[in-house]
Amino acid sequence: MIHENYCLKDRVEFDDSIFRHTDFNPYYSIICSGQTDPLIVNGKEMINLATNNYLGLSNDERIKEAYINAIKKYGISMCSTPIVGGYTELFQKIRYKLSEFIGVEDVLIYPSCYQANNGIFQTVTRKDDLVLFDRFVHSSLIQGIRSVGCKSIPFSHNNTETLEYLLKKYSHYEKIFVVTESVFSTEGAIAPFADIYKLCKKYNAVPVVDDSHGIGVIGKNGKGILSYSNIEHFEGIYTSSLGKALANNCGVVGGSRELINYLSYFCSHLVYSTAVSPAVLAGIDTTLDIVEDEYDYRAGKIFYYAEEIKNSLKANGFLTTNSAAPINSIISGTSENTFFLAKKIFQNGILTTPFVYPSVRKNDGRIRMIAGANLKESSIEKVCKLFNEIEAGEYEDVINC
Ligand SMILES: Cc1ncc(COP(=O)(O)O)c(C=O)c1O
Repeated sequence: MIHENYCLKDRVEFDDSIFRHTDFNPYYSIICSGQTDPLIVNGKEMINLATNNYLGLSNDERIKEAYINAIKKYGISMCSTPIVGGYTELFQKIRYKLSEFIGVEDVLIYPSCYQANNGIFQTVTRKDDLVLFDRFVHSSLIQGIRSVGCKSIPFSHNNTETLEYLLKKYSHYEKIFVVTESVFSTEGAIAPFADIYKLCKKYNAVPVVDDSHGIGVIGKNGKGILSYSNIEHFEGIYTSSLGKALANNCGVVGGSRELINYLSYFCSHLVYSTAVSPAVLAGIDTTLDIVEDEYDYRAGKIFYYAEEIKNSLKANGFLTTNSAAPINSIISGTSENTFFLAKKIFQNGILTTPFVYPSVRKNDGRIRMIAGANLKESSIEKVCKLFNEIEAGEYEDVINC
């Protein structure tokens, strides 16, 4: 209860009636184990479909050992921003390795992809530029674009016709940026990035792609969207989180050597933020080796699991998004419906991610499920069995009947 005279009362009050009405709050769960199967949530065993641990590497002993060894050699924190206190030698090593993996000339590593997505626009976009962005892109990109104060226009999701119409209409702008994700995190759709890239070339626009849900998941050996789209010598801005399939932390920005050099001196989000810890760099290094060796086996599992869950949802009449990635999202209608269905699934020992407004449009909720390669086949069977058992009429908004 907020005190009557609290000075920020009018700023921090929020309507939590949905939690009370549904007697369910799925956010900020208390996790008492590693990303294991089962996951221990507040002391209870659950099947984890809520995290982005696609390749199941979050609890990998080899990566944990890399962290421990790096801590022993370099300590825990750099205790300074990278421009002042430098990076460990590990950075030089993975800078090259990561650039090769992604297919760009050079990279920088930010403390998070959120920071990277916020920072790039403030650094290279100007007030008189135009930004065209897929209407479903992540909040971090939208925040970054808005912070510039330039004209920005959303285009219909994955729609290259609308994009071309806008590129033509606004061709008088000196510089146009075209922003998309590779794999859209709530829908699971994959952007037609090869076509978007061609349009950018044709209209002399700058492509910006956030590959957070693509790296480790799509492309040859999990190399992400540039490999998936057969793009070589990429001219644009690439960003990605390393906290999803690559199971570490931090954000990458990739592109030409000139871009990376410029950002390294002028992007405040990097320059004024504590350098990435050595342990994380060592973890990324080891992870890249594992992904190169084990991608086929691990990706085979996640695409298979996703297909099993999709078939079960479809067979039982659930409306789902049109996903091409190993993501299943139930189209769950109102916030209330979304919460009630997520609660039912939770009560049956399965952790999912419910998305409600403002993360998605009003009354257009989603319940997202990502089954990582660390999950046992018997867990996927349990998930599918549950969708067989849920009463069709009980969640009218979400059942395709
Ligand atoms: C598409 C997308 N971009 C960026 C981010 C932010 O990444 P990070 O967690 O590294 O800040 C996320 C994370 O939720 C995301 O889904």
